[in-house]
Amino acid sequence: MQKTQLFDLDGKIALVTGASRGIGEAIARLLAQQGAHVIVSSRKIDDCQQVADSIVAAGGQASAMACHIGEMEQITATIEAIRSQFGKLDILVNNAATNPYFGNVLDTDLSAFQKTVDVNIRGYFFMSVEAGKLMRENGGGAILNVASVNGLVPGLMQGIYSITKAAVINMTKVFAKECAQFGIRCNALLPGLTDTKFASALVKNDSILKPALQRIPMARPADPTEMAGTVLYLVSDASSYTTGAAINVDGGMLS
Ligand SMILES: NC(=O)c1ccc[n+]([C@@H]2O[C@H](COP(=O)([O-])OP(=O)(O)OC[C@H]3O[C@@H](n4cnc5c(N)ncnc54)[C@H](OP(=O)(O)O)[C@@H]3O)[C@@H](O)[C@H]2O)c1
Repeated sequence: MQKTQLFDLDGKIALVTGASRGIGEAIARLLAQQGAHVIVSSRKIDDCQQVADSIVAAGGQASAMACHIGEMEQITATIEAIRSQFGKLDILVNNAATNPYFGNVLDTDLSAFQKTVDVNIRGYFFMSVEAGKLMRENGGGAILNVASVNGLVPGLMQGIYSITKAAVINMTKVFAKECAQFGIRCNALLPGLTDTKFASALVKNDSILKPALQRIPMARPADPTEMAGTVLYLVSDASSYTTGAAINVDGGMLS
């Protein structure tokens, strides 16, 4: 009996934003392990190059591209560069996000609001629009949005961040509905607490971590690698009839 090919990504071109560390890096490594050529992207090209180099050293295919997803011209330039270098894009993983403000919603200042919206909503949206146009030209593709459990149940003191993540879940359904006709699927991953730099303020502070763990049946944060399997499922043929879905990977937190 032959092993399933449903999770194979041979010949696929995949762009992963925020792939220089954390959840994005784990996703990039797994997609490359399954045969994709992965474009490792974030604001800092040197950090991306290091991840790409180590994927190549392990026998995979990868390259690095800098892109600040809060800057419109960098989004269009990145997709143009992919068009001219590769001629297509099969997979977009919108993973890079920001959470600059931790505090009561009434004290949110305009610059934190603007930055969070520009990166987490406008960045995901126009990255999907530009990538979607390239996918449409080539008969389809898969978009995966990394949202958060906070998009369903707002995190305390993380108001505007939670609001943007709720928008990402709705955005996922919008692209799923309107782009199915172009062969493009769009799904979302909703991570729970994951041990990365992003969450270090929570994970490294015992007085915050302890009560947080009490709400997680598995009683521990996730390792970033534990997010990647669901992403592989949602961007591969294994999920060929799944679009508009939002899967929480949260140790049972929302159960
Ligand atoms: N960790 C958690 O507990 C948790 C829980 C739920 C959801 N999430 C979500 O998971 C995703 C990844 O988070 P993480 O925990 O892996 O964070 P992380 O370890 O801090 O990594 C963030 C990545 O995004 C890049 N980045 C940040 N701002 C960017 C921008 N404006 N444009 C392009 N790249 C940018 C960073 O690299 P540069 O600095 O080089 O740009 C880095 O590669 C986010 O969408 C986050 O909301 C995380």
